[in-house]
Amino acid sequence: MNFEKSQTKINLARAFAGESQAGLRYQIIAEKAMTEDKNNIQMLFKTLAKNEVVHAKTFWKLLTKHSPNVEKNIEINAGFPFQNGELIDMIKYASNNEKSENTTIYPSFAKIAEDEGFKDVAEKFKLIALVENDHFMILDELYNKLKANALFKSSTPYEWKCSKCGYTHYSKEAFKVCPLCDATSDYINLDFLSTPKK
Ligand SMILES: [Fe+2]
Ligand SMILES: [Fe+2]
Repeated sequence: MNFEKSQTKINLARAFAGESQAGLRYQIIAEKAMTEDKNNIQMLFKTLAKNEVVHAKTFWKLLTKHSPNVEKNIEINAGFPFQNGELIDMIKYASNNEKSENTTIYPSFAKIAEDEGFKDVAEKFKLIALVENDHFMILDELYNKLKANALFKSSTPYEWKCSKCGYTHYSKEAFKVCPLCDATSDYINLDFLSTPKK
């Protein structure tokens, strides 16, 4: 199929717009976390923001590969999220958006790209959907733990690590204040949120 007339071209433009905004939205959430001294949540959103920017660049590369001489603006009819609220609300909104990307939007874009004969595009939509699923799992767990006031509790012993000084403590519940550098638990690494759950 001629790429210029394809739905895949529109979908790539839409995905580029969506990922670009997600990258910036996560920077905004990171700044919000910083104003609340939630250093670890700030770091997490900075990392997620970087991921989204790379996704946007991936879609940009595909679009300009298949359509090297884009002269006209590409018209997109789509909704983009602008939810605002408390930090915990924004984490929930972000997790919902990640879920719809990986369960609905990107699988359907991949299918359309496949049907239209753009296998390379379909492949990237599938790979990026997998990352968005990881993002969903991380944010969903973060939200649930924050809501239950149990971010630093674990059913089995865990190695809690202070991101400031590197001190680690192995137990079911993390330290409230780091015994080495006096940092609060807002500096404890959130790496455990991305640990694959079997
Ligand atoms: Fe993304
Ligand atoms: Fe994401």
